Amino acid sequence: MKIVIIGAGNVGGTLGAAWAQKAGHEIFFGVRDPAADKTQALVRKIGAKARAVTPAEAAASSDVIVLTTPWPQAEAAIRSLGNISGKIVLDATNPLTRGPDGISLEIGHSISAGEKVQGWAKGASVFKTLNTTGFGNMADPVFHGVKSVIFVAGDDATNKPKVIDLVAALGFDVVDAGPLRNARMLEAHAMLWIDLSLARGLGRDWAFARVKR
Ligand SMILES: NC(=O)c1ccc[n+]([C@@H]2O[C@H](COP(=O)([O-])OP(=O)(O)OC[C@H]3O[C@@H](n4cnc5c(N)ncnc54)[C@H](OP(=O)(O)O)[C@@H]3O)[C@@H](O)[C@H]2O)c1
Repeated sequence: MKIVIIGAGNVGGTLGAAWAQKAGHEIFFGVRDPAADKTQALVRKIGAKARAVTPAEAAASSDVIVLTTPWPQAEAAIRSLGNISGKIVLDATNPLTRGPDGISLEIGHSISAGEKVQGWAKGASVFKTLNTTGFGNMADPVFHGVKSVIFVAGDDATNKPKVIDLVAALGFDVVDAGPLRNARMLEAHAMLWIDLSLARGLGRDWAFARVKR
C-alpha cells in the first residue's frame, strides 16, 4: 500500500520506518521542504520504500494519508493537500497547548482535533488513531510479549477494517473506539499518557494495555 505521511518528525518518521520495515508499505513523506537534510537522512535510513515530496504531490499518490504535524500546523497542512475527497485520513495529532500548569489540551468536551480535521478535510474519511502513546512505542509496541493498546475512532464503517489492519501491522492491540466524536476521549486519554510520562516521572518507555476475562 502507498501511505502518505504528512510530517516526518518523531511520529511521522517512526511510523514511516515501521510500516516500510514491518509491512513492506511504500511511504511518501509530505513535507514543506523535501530536500531538507534531516528528511533526506530519514528517507535514506528507511531505504527504497520511502521518498519525500511536497504535501500536494504526496496526497495525489495515495488513498491513505496520515497527519503527524504539531496541532498549530494541522489546518495549514490539511489545506496544502488540495482536494482529498474520498481519501482515508488517519489523524495522530493532539491539540496541545502550553499554559501556566504545563502542557494541556487546547480543546475537548464539545469538539476534538479529530472532528476539526474532518471539517478541514472535506469529503475524506477521518479516523483518530495513533495519538495515545509515545512515538517510541510506535516503533516497538510489545512489552514482554504483551501488545500495548491503540484505539481507532471513525464514522466510516466501510473503511474502518482497513485502518484497523494498517495500525495492527505495527504490532498494536487495536480497539475500535466508535465514532469520530470519541476522539474527544482519545485526546484526553493521550493527555493522561503525556502527563504521566512527562510530569509525573513515568518516562516514555511504558504504555497502556488491555486485559480481559
Ligand atoms: N511525540 C509523540 O510521542 C507523539 C505521540 C502521539 C501523537 N503525537 C502528536 O503527533 C504530532 C506530531 O508530533 P511529533 O512529536 O512527531 O512532532 P515533530 O517531531 O515536531 O514533527 C512534526 C513534523 O510536522 C512537519 N510539519 C509541520 N508543519 C507542516 C506542514 N504544514 N506540512 C507538512 N509538514 C509539516 C514538521 O516539518 P518541519 O521540519 O518542516 O517543521 C515535522 O516533520 C503532534 O500533533 C503530537 O501531539 C505525538
